[in-house]
Amino acid sequence: MRAYWQPLSLQTRQLSHVWPAGSRVNEAGRLEIGGCDAIELAREFGTPAYIVAEDDLRARARSFVAAFAERHTGETELLFASKAFPCTAVYQVLAEEGIGVDVASGGELASALRAGFEPGRVVVHGNAKSEAELTAALQARVGTIVIDGSDELDRLSQLVDQPQRVYLRVTPNVRGETHDGISTGQADSKFGVELVDAPALIERIEAHPLLDMRGLHMHIGSQIRDLAPFRRAVRAVAHLGDFAEIDLGGGLGVAYTEDMDVPTIEQYADAKIGVVQEQYGSDIRIVDEPGRALVANSCVTLYTVETIKRNVSTWVAVDGGMSDNLRPMLYGARYEAQVADRFGDNTPCHLVGKHCESSDVIVRDAQLADPTVGDVVVTPVTGAYGFSMANNYNGIPRPPVVFCKDGDARVVVRRETYDDLFHRDV
Ligand code: LLP
Repeated sequence: MRAYWQPLSLQTRQLSHVWPAGSRVNEAGRLEIGGCDAIELAREFGTPAYIVAEDDLRARARSFVAAFAERHTGETELLFASKAFPCTAVYQVLAEEGIGVDVASGGELASALRAGFEPGRVVVHGNAKSEAELTAALQARVGTIVIDGSDELDRLSQLVDQPQRVYLRVTPNVRGETHDGISTGQADSKFGVELVDAPALIERIEAHPLLDMRGLHMHIGSQIRDLAPFRRAVRAVAHLGDFAEIDLGGGLGVAYTEDMDVPTIEQYADAKIGVVQEQYGSDIRIVDEPGRALVANSCVTLYTVETIKRNVSTWVAVDGGMSDNLRPMLYGARYEAQVADRFGDNTPCHLVGKHCESSDVIVRDAQLADPTVGDVVVTPVTGAYGFSMANNYNGIPRPPVVFCKDGDARVVVRRETYDDLFHRDV
């Protein structure tokens, strides 16, 4: 993480590129997100809290839409992979910016429709869709259903009672460099169908009177920082035939820490569109499904330091942890951390959560500036898969989501209460 050391000229202090656009250290020497002072936000809304810089979210959405539209003469469509941040207010902002949505379950479908997405702009995924989920998708008249395998084709063939656009998900047998838990392009995968099995399924889909085979779908994995596998994946499936559309999935990696280099949205669009045009020409409709890269960097999490212990290491424990961010634990993901009103890196420590297990570490080997009980500590880049994988382990209510823009803050999801924890008791 970047070393900021006191005393600093407040005017010249720069935050690294991982923070939401527009973040700064204000005149009072405190972090500011979307024009709102982080310590004031903590006071007003409590901690832990997810803080979203709305302008940053909109700017990323616009960059994606423009990057794809500018590079291709055929139609392009951006879908928000809603699993990354399935929050009504996030859906609404992205819908306003002209983005559609992909959903991976009946619950995500219900949320997306409730948020106001046009059903025609919904693409339905999932490697084990139930009859009820397929029925809900058909009844809602969703735009496209992604057929993930032979059993699902059987099920959908029985249920469908009106023309339905479909894609077939194929596994291109291309592995992107990422954590095993989020790699999906390899042949040995629970997702999609292998290349050798695809022709027979395509034939079956095309023979069905109500299924409209629009094209192939692929998603090789997530948090992919080298663009070459995206190109290899399209080349690997091109022999399966010419179709009206291709859905390329998502996967663009983001920078979680200052030292991480990632492709820009434009470079990602260059790579994906370039290879599609090389293989299919410039009329094919191109669909892409970014999740993480749309939302991750727009959000930070605020915590309050509850205790500090010094033994072999220094343990700075805050009021959240693995209940609001499972990623360090699941994927060994690295984050930065920053005291909201003190800058420097003079205290090597582990920033840990309040949960009852040793793996509840938010940032191992963090460097904080004189961490003190009561400090507000901020971790950037928590917009993707933080809220969506939040849980109630140890009876911790899930945090609120607060949108900040031009100095105004509004709660878009309230904090859970203890009553919410017992809500389902019968
Ligand atoms: N399309 C499909 C079919 C997907 O399965 C996914 C993500 C995406 C698009 C969006 O991928 P993205 O642009 O966000 O990389 N919980 C993990 C990430 C799981 C990703 C699952 N699928 C994490 O926290 O890293």
